[in-house]
Amino acid sequence: MRIYFTTPIYYVNAYPHLGHAYTTIVVDVLTRFFKLKGWEVFFLTGTDEHGDKIQKTAKEKNKEPKELVDEISLAFKKTWEYFKISYNYFIRTTSASHQRVVQFLLQKLYDQGEFYLDEYEGYYCIGCERFLTSKELDEKGECLDHKVVPIYVKEKNYFFNLEKYRSWLKDYLFRNEVIYPEFYREEVLNLLEEELPPLCISRPKNRLSWGIELPFDKEYVTYVWFDALINYLTGIGYPENPEWESWWKKAHHFIAKDILKPHAIYWPIMLKAMGLPMYKKLLVHGYWLVDKLKMSKSLGNIIDPIEISEKYGRDQLRYFLLREMAFGYDAEFNFSNFILRINADLANDYGNLVYRTFSLIEKHFKTIPDRSGNLEVLDEEFIQNITQALKEYEELFLSFQFHKALERLWQAIRSANVYIDRCAPWELIKKGYQERAGIVLRLLTEGIKSFAIALYPVTPEASQILLKTLGLNIDQLHWDLVWNFSALSCSTVISKGKPLFPRVEIEKLTHSVAKSSSS
Ligand code: MSP
Repeated sequence: MRIYFTTPIYYVNAYPHLGHAYTTIVVDVLTRFFKLKGWEVFFLTGTDEHGDKIQKTAKEKNKEPKELVDEISLAFKKTWEYFKISYNYFIRTTSASHQRVVQFLLQKLYDQGEFYLDEYEGYYCIGCERFLTSKELDEKGECLDHKVVPIYVKEKNYFFNLEKYRSWLKDYLFRNEVIYPEFYREEVLNLLEEELPPLCISRPKNRLSWGIELPFDKEYVTYVWFDALINYLTGIGYPENPEWESWWKKAHHFIAKDILKPHAIYWPIMLKAMGLPMYKKLLVHGYWLVDKLKMSKSLGNIIDPIEISEKYGRDQLRYFLLREMAFGYDAEFNFSNFILRINADLANDYGNLVYRTFSLIEKHFKTIPDRSGNLEVLDEEFIQNITQALKEYEELFLSFQFHKALERLWQAIRSANVYIDRCAPWELIKKGYQERAGIVLRLLTEGIKSFAIALYPVTPEASQILLKTLGLNIDQLHWDLVWNFSALSCSTVISKGKPLFPRVEIEKLTHSVAKSSSS
């Protein structure tokens, strides 16, 4: 079975921040999860390198656009390398292969008569890289996301008649559960109640030269969104690669709500006009906020994901991001919540469970005890509890409800801590019931093994350490192993090792929010 995941391709006018890292990490977690389940996954990410925004930033920095895009695109690549992001391909819209396909599709639509030349005037937000309607401005006339007054533009351009496809799209979205969470689908359906203004698909070269030239008019370059959206096709080798269609049918685009309109309206209509099938799903998350404001370069409240991972750990950050944000809704990035999750969930609940279990085995058994002997009701309940939690965790994960999945798994981790306290294997050993203590510790180790596998997509580094300790081969990991209680060998020597997730001391809490150095 195949599945295709994409992140947005990020603008290279600024260095990656925690908001970009979130979407990319979510897709990485899912990629690892589906691979664990035996699926073939194609994961595409990359950079969006044309348009007003890039040209303007290059000018401000006294650089050629090409120099700027090479530099920042590399910074994105390096950031994803640091986070060990398991992408298959990193696309750059300035690559020749991408530009060729964009021109091919533009020509095709032009030949079909989809474009017309017209004079246009309107308010353009460079931050959004699109014209805004009056409903998209606040009372001061500023863009809701970027808090700047858009620039007034009047020029002759090529237009794409979106209105022609409105009723088709409305019907399609009404009949198909393409957008998740559901309230974003409703938002788009509401937008589709009103007539769609034509989409301006060109920019005159005398104003903007940094773009893909229109194949049918050398005086113009392509509108950046028209160029960018096509990356989802070029990234899988459309049209030459014979495999592209099998991936395309399973395309899942992950985005934040800032770019809902281009993905839910422009893109489906572009695909329809090009005679290509619709993508499978659009998954929309909310914003990471800092003091209630969207984290963004333009607002200067960004957090550097590498800086905080260096300090607190990559796995810790991944866990926090997935556990804290209810997918679809905004979430506040707050250091005390971050530290609380590290100390309470990771260090106390999960880390301590492992440490206690492994210490007792190391001291009294050396190797993983076997399961010989009868199980008590308490043991059966414990096994059932964990089995049920894993089943629900898997279902919640497959339905993109990561925070709930983790919440459910943590109930099981906490129940394992209750089980160890109730059985008190240290007391059993003291009283000479070595065999009974062995059963309890064996069951706990089986539970830990299941947690480590289930959490491998979220906290891969910690899981690798645990699974290695348990004598399992990380390269042959498969989801079904979570159910396989006999996978652990009694000859595996256990050493408690270092605590998996060290507690964060409060002194470390002093952290300043990184400020963007560029405008
Ligand atoms: N280049 C376009 C996307 C083209 S896709 C065909 C673009 N780039 S962007 O650099 O502005 O990235 C926007 C995306 O970055 C969001 O949709 C989201 O994935 C991520 N985020 C940026 N800031 C974010 C937050 N504050 N919170 C959550 N995600 C954020 O738009």
